[in-house]
Amino acid sequence: MSTAKQMKCTIRSLEPVGEYLHLILDAPEMPEVQPGHFAAVAVGGVGGGMLLRRAFSIHKSEPGETLELIFAAHGQGTQWLATQSAGDVIDVIAPLGKPFVLPRQPVACVLVAGGYGAAPMELLAQQLRARGCRVDVVLGAATQEKLFGVLSLKGVSDSLTVTTDDGTSGVRGRVTDVLAELMTRNESKAVYACGPMAMLQAVAAVAQENGAFSQCAVEESMACGIGVCMTCVLPVIGDDGVTRMVRSCVEGPVFRGDRVRWNDVDTIPQDTFGAPSPGGH
Ligand SMILES: Cc1cc2nc3c(=O)[nH]c(=O)nc-3n(C[C@H](O)[C@H](O)[C@H](O)COP(=O)(O)OP(=O)(O)OC[C@H]3O[C@@H](n4cnc5c(N)ncnc54)[C@H](O)[C@@H]3O)c2cc1C
Ligand code: FES
Repeated sequence: MSTAKQMKCTIRSLEPVGEYLHLILDAPEMPEVQPGHFAAVAVGGVGGGMLLRRAFSIHKSEPGETLELIFAAHGQGTQWLATQSAGDVIDVIAPLGKPFVLPRQPVACVLVAGGYGAAPMELLAQQLRARGCRVDVVLGAATQEKLFGVLSLKGVSDSLTVTTDDGTSGVRGRVTDVLAELMTRNESKAVYACGPMAMLQAVAAVAQENGAFSQCAVEESMACGIGVCMTCVLPVIGDDGVTRMVRSCVEGPVFRGDRVRWNDVDTIPQDTFGAPSPGGH
C-alpha cells in the first residue's frame, strides 16, 4: 500500500509530445514512487461539475519536487486538463495502487507498452537494470504519432522494437507479433505490460505460452481511486484458485497476467466468490 498524499500542485509545464501531452507538476509533498503507481487528478476546476478524478500512470517523479504525467486529451476531463497552463494549480492524489513487483534475480525481462502505456516504463526499465536485469522493450501503437517514449526507452534498454498497426514506424503489426521470438532469443523470464486491455490479454497469453511470469497494469474505469466505490472491480483468481472481484485501484492496477480472467472482465462470472445467484436468490 502506498502512502498517498492529496496535494495542490502547480503546473510547471504542459507540452505536446506526439499525440499526447506531457504534464510536469511542482509537487513539494510528493512521496517516493514505484513504477506502476498512478495519480488521481481532479479535473474541471471548482464548481466545474466533473466530480470524478481521472487516473494517470506516473511517468516520473522526484520525491519532494516533481510529478510527471503523460495523457491523451480524449474525453471531457483530459480536454479540460489540456487547456491548463504553467502556474495553474491542480489537485492530485498520489502515489496510488500497487506497483510492478521487481524480480529478486537478475533475469531477462521484456517491457511491452501500447501508446501512453509506455508512461511508467522508463522508471521500470531503470530499476530493472539497476538490479542487473536484461531489459528488452516492445512499444506498439496504432500509428507513429501514438507511440510514446521511443528515444527515452532506447536509452535505458538493451533493445527496443517498435510496432505500428499501419506500418508508419517499425514492424507493421501488433506487439504480440514480435514478442514470442524476442522472448525465445533472450530467454526472457518476466514480462511487464501496460496498455489497452486487449493488448494485455494477448501479451499475458504469449508470456504464459513461453513459460514467463507476466505482470499487467490494467486500465479499468475508476471513480474514487481509493477503494471505496467498487467501480474498478475485475475478476481475478487468487492463490487459493478462487475467483474474486477485486478493486484495481487498491489491489492493482498491476496484476499477474495469468490470474486475470480477461474474457470475463466487465462481468461477474458465476463461480466468483460471493457472486449473485442466477435469478437473484
Ligand atoms: C490506472 C490507470 C492509469 C491510466 N493512465 C493513463 C495515462 O497515463 N494517460 C492517459 O491518457 N490515460 C490514462 N488512463 C486512462 C484515463 O484515466 C481515462 O482515459 C480517463 O477516463 C480520461 O478521462 P476523460 O474525462 O478525458 O474521459 P472520460 O470522460 O472518462 O471519457 C469520455 C469519452 O472519451 C473516451 N476516452 C477517454 N479516454 C480515452 C482514450 N485514452 N482513448 C480513447 N478514448 C478515450 C471514453 O471512452 C469516453 O467515451 C489511465 C487509467 C487508469 C485506470
Ligand atoms: S475506483 Fe473506487 S473502488 Fe476502485
